[in-house]
Amino acid sequence: MANLIFFFLIIILISFINAPICSSLENPSHFIKHGVIQQKYLEISRPLPFANLTPSCTLPILSHHFGDTIGLPPVSVAYAPPDNCSWNHVVLQFNASSNGIQYDRIAAVWLDGADIFRTSTVEPTESGVFWTVTKDVTRYSSLLAKEDISLSVMLENMVNDVYTGVYYVNVTILYYYIEEMNVPLSTISTNRKVRMVDDVFVDNPIRGSLGLNEKPADLIIPISGNNGGEGFWFRIQSDSEWRGKSVIIPKNTYKAVMEICVSFHGLDEFWYSNPPDSYIRENSLTSQRGHGSYREVLLNIDRNLVGSVVPFPVIYPGGINPLYWDPIVSIGAFDHPSYDIDITPFLGDLLDGKSHFMGFKVLDSLPFWLVDANLHLWVDKQCTSDCEVQGEVVDYGTPDYEM
Ligand SMILES: *[C@@H]1O[C@H](CO)[C@@H](O)[C@H](O)[C@H]1NC(C)=O
Ligand SMILES: *[C@@H]1O[C@H](CO)[C@@H](O)[C@H](O)[C@H]1NC(C)=O
Ligand SMILES: *[C@@H]1O[C@H](CO)[C@@H](O)[C@H](O)[C@H]1NC(C)=O
Repeated sequence: MANLIFFFLIIILISFINAPICSSLENPSHFIKHGVIQQKYLEISRPLPFANLTPSCTLPILSHHFGDTIGLPPVSVAYAPPDNCSWNHVVLQFNASSNGIQYDRIAAVWLDGADIFRTSTVEPTESGVFWTVTKDVTRYSSLLAKEDISLSVMLENMVNDVYTGVYYVNVTILYYYIEEMNVPLSTISTNRKVRMVDDVFVDNPIRGSLGLNEKPADLIIPISGNNGGEGFWFRIQSDSEWRGKSVIIPKNTYKAVMEICVSFHGLDEFWYSNPPDSYIRENSLTSQRGHGSYREVLLNIDRNLVGSVVPFPVIYPGGINPLYWDPIVSIGAFDHPSYDIDITPFLGDLLDGKSHFMGFKVLDSLPFWLVDANLHLWVDKQCTSDCEVQGEVVDYGTPDYEM
């Protein structure tokens, strides 16, 4: 019996996947949801360990409605940390609401060009939908402490006679000062706590958070497109493209982590269900969603492959069947995971004061992917300008991979 139900579920799933239900801008067909009340949506996630504390400061930074925004640059506002505020933890709060008919959309928040939040929107109903996402952004503290930078939000949306949903968005930054004793142990699942030289960092057990013994990086270099007009991400349109940026790393860097942010769209929105090309050919299918169901995001430094990640298959709220994600969205839909690659072993090659190309590509990808990254660097402050951290790559090799 269970097998039978599973079999039918698979059939239903496949029939939805083969139907043109993609939420990309190009796709004309659309599943219309109905609701009788204004519905709150949520992603199930662990509460932040300090969620019940009062922030020392609250900064309402952006309030904007995203109507017909296709092709428009991100909305940017000036950022500076609040005056006279002690903080050692920071939370980004993203509130949104919409009503009418609309596709799910992708949005990102960049601080000084660094991707600090990737999210997808709920498909609204006539009676309206709303939701709140909170993300611990403490790991971006070195940027959050900077004055005179900008915070940018991009949410490409299309509004016309048919697609009427406008997305109303408020972004607020909450600053907390957390002393060790203030945090009730019962709210920390692992009791993993670390005392830093000046401050106390309580490890946050959710994704994208600081790990054990980690303090936020001293410096974050965005590996993102300079053309803010199209957003700061790289639009990867083919699987042979390396996109990235050349950067110079301070000679006193002793640890480096590349945080990669991705979302997948168009023919690859459901890459994890794409059949092999041979299957499409042999069955004379017209679908262009091929290349199989495996994708890997590769990271190169100069010409060397230094790491790769298999992204988590986040299903956006209009994906497969929008009624599956109503009102609880799929894992990661509101707070897309990012992926860390520790590139400390390669510092020996990077501490020469020269510029090095950090590039990405998505193996076997179809158009299109939105990829960018943040290079988190920890520097030795005891080490002044005439000294440098010593390091050497002693052995390097990569296995072959097939395209
Ligand atoms: C800064 O905060 C302290 C403590 O809350 C307060 O005593 C002081 O007046 C504040 N200074 C300014 C310039 O707001
Ligand atoms: C965002 O939503 C939260 C939770 O519903 C609420 O407490 C907060 O006041 C909202 N902030 C803004 C600026 O809308
Ligand atoms: C945004 O903030 C304004 C002002 O506080 C409020 O009226 C509006 O309902 C908020 N919208 C969302 C989506 O949180």
